[in-house]
Amino acid sequence: MKILGIETSCDETAICLIEVDEKTREARILGNIVHSQIDVHASYGGVFPTLAKREHQRNLVPVLRKALAEAGTLEEAAPAPMPEKIKEILAREPELLEAFTASALSIKKPDIDYISVTVGPGLEPALWVGINFARALATLWNVPIIPANHMEGHILTALVRKNGDSYKIIGKEITFPALSLLISGGHTEIVLIEKPGSYRIVGETRDDAVGECFDKIARTLGLAYPGGPKISKLAAEARAEDINSPEPLPRPMIDSKDLDFSFSGLKTAVLYLVKRLTDAGALDERAKKGICREAEDSIMDVLTAKMRKAAETYAARSIVVGGGVIANTRIRQALETLAADSSLDMYLPQTDHATDNGLMIALAGFFNIEKAVSAETDLKANGTLRIGK
Ligand code: KG4
Ligand code: ZN
Repeated sequence: MKILGIETSCDETAICLIEVDEKTREARILGNIVHSQIDVHASYGGVFPTLAKREHQRNLVPVLRKALAEAGTLEEAAPAPMPEKIKEILAREPELLEAFTASALSIKKPDIDYISVTVGPGLEPALWVGINFARALATLWNVPIIPANHMEGHILTALVRKNGDSYKIIGKEITFPALSLLISGGHTEIVLIEKPGSYRIVGETRDDAVGECFDKIARTLGLAYPGGPKISKLAAEARAEDINSPEPLPRPMIDSKDLDFSFSGLKTAVLYLVKRLTDAGALDERAKKGICREAEDSIMDVLTAKMRKAAETYAARSIVVGGGVIANTRIRQALETLAADSSLDMYLPQTDHATDNGLMIALAGFFNIEKAVSAETDLKANGTLRIGK
């Protein structure tokens, strides 16, 4: 079966077309395009919801065309007359309606069986653009829509194993109970997976998400959004040049009895340290690099300590990590070491599948198709959708 996954929950407009062999559970990526809005949001130091909504409206049709072209399934047809129903669906997205009229109606129906789309969690105005685009395409091409949970998508990118040109979907074959660590710009959660598709949140952040913490620290240091990759680069330079932070930073909640996190204190500690250094005229490049190194280490220490505790508490047999922050090499390595030391099986996404993309949504769609989830009549954005209890 062929599934078109559409992701617009945050600042990436992403579409991926996969073909899954249901018997062998091999998935082939036919076309996979991610259009990042980083440049648009960089000057705000974070994602600006109204701008994200506008950008998704402008980018969805071009991204769709690119994804279909990459898949070799983009064909032009005489433009279909605009159905009234699509006008209604896109009434709240005028720029998307314009783009759809100008260049989606003339796309010949591609060979796809399902459209899966992120319904949450994320920024609701951004989610709605993707959902309404999916509804418009589903109407135009007469294909069913499958809702997808963004966080389940992140988990599933870790549960594919590269096998030549394709990816074997191993979501059902891993060792259970599994513990998933979800670390992104909006979420920091430890999710217990006792069997395939059963999720229970056993720990989560009480304030900032870990990616958000990276982004806010970066902003304090004058580094552009998204901060994670920049901090990680400067931290690596600090290690290579043997530079340390002028002062140690806290490891918030590292010894707490529960599996929860708190990252706002770390962000504030950096803010005060930077202020003291600035007042003393001592905030030079060396100091900045040292702070990046220490901040990354603090986050790494907290994440590994909590995962160690969670693995003991739930007698976990495997660890599954998802979310943009697992693009971080040092955090990857620390979690790999933890898994090796504790004899746990480890599942990590390919680095280029860690941040938001359409593949994760196509995979989540596939799981929901198997579970016979359908929500065509009640397809709603849910900004605070949770993956489990
Ligand atoms: O999963 P994602 O793409 O979007 C959300 O669903 O939030 O995660 C984005 C987050 C950003 O906060 C970004 O700074 C962080 O992932 N990130 C990183 C790295 N690459 C991306 N954080 C640390 N190190 C990285 N290399
Ligand atoms: Zn994400």
